[in-house]
Amino acid sequence: MIDQIGSKVGQEVELKGWAYNFRSSGKIFFLQLRDGSGRVQVVYSQGEMSAQAWEELNKVKIESSVSIRGMVKAEARSASGFEIQGTLFTAIQIPDEDFPIGKKEHGPDFLLDERHLWLRSEKQWAIQRVRNTIINATFEYFNQNGYVKFDTPILTPTSCEGTTELFEMEYFDLGKAYLSQSGQLYLEAGIMSFGRAFDFGPVFRAEKSKTRRHLTEFWMMDAEAAFVEHEENMQIQEELICHVVKKVLEFNRKELAILERDVSALQKVQAPFVHMTHVEAVKKLHELGSDIGERDDLGADDETKLTMLYDRPIFVEKYPVEVKAFYMKLDPADPSRVLGADLLAPEGYGEIIGGSQREDNYDKLVERMNAQGLALEPFRWYLDLRKYGSVPHSGFGYGLERITGWLCGVHHIRETIPFPRTINRLNP
Ligand code: 4AD
Ligand code: MG
Repeated sequence: MIDQIGSKVGQEVELKGWAYNFRSSGKIFFLQLRDGSGRVQVVYSQGEMSAQAWEELNKVKIESSVSIRGMVKAEARSASGFEIQGTLFTAIQIPDEDFPIGKKEHGPDFLLDERHLWLRSEKQWAIQRVRNTIINATFEYFNQNGYVKFDTPILTPTSCEGTTELFEMEYFDLGKAYLSQSGQLYLEAGIMSFGRAFDFGPVFRAEKSKTRRHLTEFWMMDAEAAFVEHEENMQIQEELICHVVKKVLEFNRKELAILERDVSALQKVQAPFVHMTHVEAVKKLHELGSDIGERDDLGADDETKLTMLYDRPIFVEKYPVEVKAFYMKLDPADPSRVLGADLLAPEGYGEIIGGSQREDNYDKLVERMNAQGLALEPFRWYLDLRKYGSVPHSGFGYGLERITGWLCGVHHIRETIPFPRTINRLNP
């Protein structure tokens, strides 16, 4: 693989991949090869290969699939630090048509229509590689900290977050089914068996919003832990995020360079993160000229303003009860607010995690559900968790695309998922 050729200087290698570009000058042919692991230039001289191979080489078009052989040389002038002196060349398939994505600037709609091909481009490759590191680092963190991976269902009989954003469908003779908005409620059942658990999977929100932070299908990691209260819940999030950022800095320097990401901003993501209450956040926002109401949720613009003030993530704690979900425990010091926090990423990226301590008292939970007009029967199983050995517990959920967008420095999160689904896109 190309990412290994540094250890093969002076040796012959055989590589299979795609010609992402090429140019020729008389008797020299420069083939830009990518093989999934990296990119390298292969240089061929007409005099050093068979006439037949030279002829085949000159038929190459962009994105031809090819097989090559050659000698690895150190080459300081190339981005990879290496070059291959080609000896053999075989085309696997040469396209009949020109590759639709060229070097000229394309608009986002065109690129999204060609998403299946756009994924081959260097920046898109880099983003998906960072996403992969985030996933692996997340699993690693939870495996090292006693969590069990617990797979929560996607087809559900109830809503977890707001009922206004539910995708629904007819489910045989059983009435309506909904696509999961978060596995949290089921994880709460899981931790009463395992103590600590996490899930990781696609969730769905019929969001009508067309912002750069919203998808209708995205990947969420929910984590939940028994006997953990609000403060400790935030510590766990801080540790997880620091671990993820550290791993991305360790494994993805090349990708971050391709993305022209300011690495120094990521190096500043260290504990302790900033903490402020919702009351304090609103006060700061007023100073910054926002017209946010005392008990309003933070809007995207508010989050952007706030996160520009610090170089670390911010926990905004204790939101008004009316802007948060029914399962959040009320703050005993002010029962008009919840024992929860959103974690906002710096540099304007905004909310990446939502979390809280959960209401563990049966009667209080029923009261909250009644106040929100939720039918109790479909939640019987969830209420049971408060009947049989209820314990204080807390959890949180992160949006993988939001974290990937932040760490890659990508403006719109639709580029952080292989095939984005938004209110106006279902294809390809
Ligand atoms: O804040 P949310 O809605 O929280 C929950 O769903 C909780 N049940 C999680 C839990 O406590 N286990 O969503 C969690 C995160 C957000 O912070 C955000 O990062 C991401 O999911 N998110 C979205 N990402 C992309 N597109 C959307 N439409 C998103 N909605 C939320
Ligand atoms: Mg949220």
